[in-house]
Amino acid sequence: MVGSIGADHVIDYTQEDFTQNGQRYDLIIDAVGNRSIFDLKRALNRNGICVIIGFSPAIMFQTLFLGPLISMTGSKKIGLMSAKITDKDLVFLKELFEAGKVKSVIDRHYPLSEVAEAIRYLEEGHVQGKVVITVAK
Ligand SMILES: NC(=O)c1ccc[n+]([C@@H]2O[C@H](COP(=O)([O-])OP(=O)(O)OC[C@H]3O[C@@H](n4cnc5c(N)ncnc54)[C@H](OP(=O)(O)O)[C@@H]3O)[C@@H](O)[C@H]2O)c1
Repeated sequence: MVGSIGADHVIDYTQEDFTQNGQRYDLIIDAVGNRSIFDLKRALNRNGICVIIGFSPAIMFQTLFLGPLISMTGSKKIGLMSAKITDKDLVFLKELFEAGKVKSVIDRHYPLSEVAEAIRYLEEGHVQGKVVITVAK
């Protein structure tokens, strides 16, 4: 699935640990948030940047306390990012989708009456892309 939306290279996390394979990256966007800040730091190139967007409370606290320290004392930068959705950003995203520059992946649709079931499915942690809740007019 990841390859089909444009990734040039895919690592299967069940087979290979991207923080231990000797590769170093200029930019890491961590959408899972299950790695320690030290693992992420190791996987960065000099001057590399890691942005953590999916995180547990433990990773959040670790990054809030240690991220600024790592970023100020070395050449690597690590921090958290939370989306602040604006109309302008949504219009920009819509244009990217319409131009075919970004592909969406929708795993399942649920009606509003089955939102509890949709959340249960999300909580399993293996949704491929997004789950859509349909609100009947
Ligand atoms: N910062 C923000 O503003 C913001 C906004 C929205 C969401 N989030 C966060 O972003 C994260 C992602 O959300 P999501 O909706 O995509 O749901 P999700 O349930 O966290 O993601 C499911 C996907 O993650 C993959 N996955 C699970 N463990 C993995 C691992 N160790 N390494 C690589 N991939 C792994 C699963 O693949 P397999 O099925 O192959 O395991 C599945 O494709 C969540 O933590 C959410 O809270 C943050």
